[in-house]
Amino acid sequence: MKRIIKWILRIALLALIVIQFIRPEKNNGGYESVKAFETETKPSVKVAGILKTYCYDCHSDQTQYPWYAEVAPISYWLDDHVRHGKGEFNVSKWESYSVKKKDHKLEEIIEEVKEGHMPLDSYTWIHGTLTEEEKKDLFLWVDLARLSYQEELKVSGN
Ligand code: HEC
Repeated sequence: MKRIIKWILRIALLALIVIQFIRPEKNNGGYESVKAFETETKPSVKVAGILKTYCYDCHSDQTQYPWYAEVAPISYWLDDHVRHGKGEFNVSKWESYSVKKKDHKLEEIIEEVKEGHMPLDSYTWIHGTLTEEEKKDLFLWVDLARLSYQEELKVSGN
């Protein structure tokens, strides 16, 4: 019995070592990848900081990876969040969104943050979450950015 347990532990350890060599591809777009979005939606320095601190890791190609992102299987788990988050809302693809989609995604920001769905709980354990003041600044920026998109939608009759 003892020998079997020893073997199981050995195999588990070997598997843990082997999976370290399977590394998910990383986002390393840097500031360039959020520049078009920020030029268009004009966040203040403060709001840009809020987005960078709490949102860009999963919603842009500018992801700041923590050290534990190097450790499998945590790396797979983080990669899954980033992929899923970017699939729903990716500021690095902002230019490819229609005006209607841009307006809608901005609207969703307020909803998701107000309801406490964003940032994801697993993220806030480590990174903390927005203060009430940060939320207020964020929502004000969303409202302003949406104004110009809504103007565009009105002109185009959508
Ligand atoms: C740890 C990764 C992560 C972080 C950080 C994060 N999100 Fe998300 N976000 C996701 C995932 C995954 C989804 C899709 C699944 C879901 O809705 O739960 C999502 C969905 C969304 C959506 C919904 C898009 C739609 O059309 O339904 C919005 C808007 C959003 N996030 C905004 C934000 C904002 C704003 C922040 C920062 C305050 C943020 N997220 C931080 C992972 C993240």
